[in-house]
Amino acid sequence: MELIIIGAGGHGKVVLDVLRAAGLYKPVGFVDADTSLAGTEVGGLPVVGPVNTLPRLRQQRVKRAIIAIGDNRTRVRYAVLLREQGFELVNAIHPTASVSSSAVLGVNVVIAAQAAVCTEARLADSVIINTGALVDHECVIAEGVHVAPGVCLAGRVRVGTCAFIGIGANLIQCLSVGEHATIGAGAAVIEDIPAYATAVGVPARVIKTGGPDKHENPSG
Ligand SMILES: CC(C)(COP(=O)(O)OP(=O)(O)OC[C@H]1O[C@@H](n2cnc3c(N)ncnc32)[C@H](O)[C@@H]1OP(=O)(O)O)[C@@H](O)C(=O)NCCC(=O)NCCS
Repeated sequence: MELIIIGAGGHGKVVLDVLRAAGLYKPVGFVDADTSLAGTEVGGLPVVGPVNTLPRLRQQRVKRAIIAIGDNRTRVRYAVLLREQGFELVNAIHPTASVSSSAVLGVNVVIAAQAAVCTEARLADSVIINTGALVDHECVIAEGVHVAPGVCLAGRVRVGTCAFIGIGANLIQCLSVGEHATIGAGAAVIEDIPAYATAVGVPARVIKTGGPDKHENPSG
């Protein structure tokens, strides 16, 4: 089953690796907005060009895709675009990841090597659970969230749309992280974090607040 990967950067390479290890789909190339990459190879596959090459790929009967873009909002935006163009979005789950049979997954979800998604966890569309991260029982992870490598989310944590949980952060049980919030690398989160806020440290403290107009979070 042939598949195109959208995004030929660092996360694109990780996703290619996950797809190859899983062996379910046959990646045939990358699409990337950076036109200077067109005609080059990444991981032994061609970068076919920017998004205006998508209709041609559909004509060539490539009908599956995965969005491998680290920036959360961009990933969600591309998911809409690819669906509009008739692509079926698929998941990439590394065979060394542990995913409970009672977990519920959306589409365009990436679960990288050694990650664990536990009992009754729910992951919406376009979520990244990166290498070695733990999403414990009954967590609810909204669309476009990136859980970076080595993060531990204890049971029943809720993470809002497009939030970013930085590498190695730990969150105690039953907390809420608001939409578009950013949790810094290595943080220990012991209380709810508001939408659009940035929280860092042990214990984590909010260092920035914001709103939709001035917001950006890191992509990884
Ligand atoms: C939290 C983070 C996004 C903040 O970035 P930023 O908004 O550019 O913030 P700044 O670098 O201006 O730092 C602001 C203050 O917070 C401190 N700070 C930043 N990140 C911190 C962290 N992870 N832990 C503790 N303190 C941190 C800075 O030292 C600085 O303190 P000061 O005001 O006393 O000098 C970033 O530092 C971070 O941790 N990113 C996570 C990266 C990651 O997980 N990558 C993996 C991708 S897969």
